[in-house]
Amino acid sequence: MLTIGVLASGRGSNFQSIIDNIESGYLNARIAVLITDNPKAYAIERAKNNNIETLIISPKNFPDKDAYYSHIAEELKGRGVELVILAGFMRVVGKTLIQAFPNKIMNIHPALLPSFPGLHGQKQAVDNGVKISGCTVHFVDEGVDTGPIIIQAAVPVYNDDTEDSLSERILRQEHRIFPLAIKLFSEGKITVKGKKVIIKSKKEDAVIINPPLL
Ligand code: GRF
Repeated sequence: MLTIGVLASGRGSNFQSIIDNIESGYLNARIAVLITDNPKAYAIERAKNNNIETLIISPKNFPDKDAYYSHIAEELKGRGVELVILAGFMRVVGKTLIQAFPNKIMNIHPALLPSFPGLHGQKQAVDNGVKISGCTVHFVDEGVDTGPIIIQAAVPVYNDDTEDSLSERILRQEHRIFPLAIKLFSEGKITVKGKKVIIKSKKEDAVIINPPLL
């Protein structure tokens, strides 16, 4: 069984979808700990409701970014965490955490990377008039949303879309592909070769991994 650590700063709907997919048996995993930088994050309630240990760790209590992320890495390692999930963690992760978990930190981004990295991926898509956007699960490297891409899901962008309406459509796909990426990882089906992620799958799986536009 895969041991997961989750980092989240806010609402935590992706965190919840992982909890739900474990509960349903889709994921053979356990969440050892939720770590948050925000004492007001709703994710904390979700952890409480599911008996998941929560650590509130503020960067204010550390001399610098390296020390902050070394501490987080220690907390995760101390609980046997094998895969770190960034589920709406609103900080650029430091190198001391990335080096402790090379290609073992996954992030979800609400755009089709490498388009629209950084904040407000959905607003960037609407403002730029693209016709298709979506979401990306990727491994975390030292850049901002630049790590190897694992899975993407596409959604249409309509003329009358707002940031909110597009965000909602994308979020439904986030809740689908993040658990899928974790499942593939837990089954040993993911290999990273430089910038590329190779997913071991049968041809029949293509429709699951690359679904039609929804
Ligand atoms: C999602 O839009 C995700 O793509 C981005 O942050 C948001 C987190 O939402 N990284 P939630 O906290 O999981 O509901």
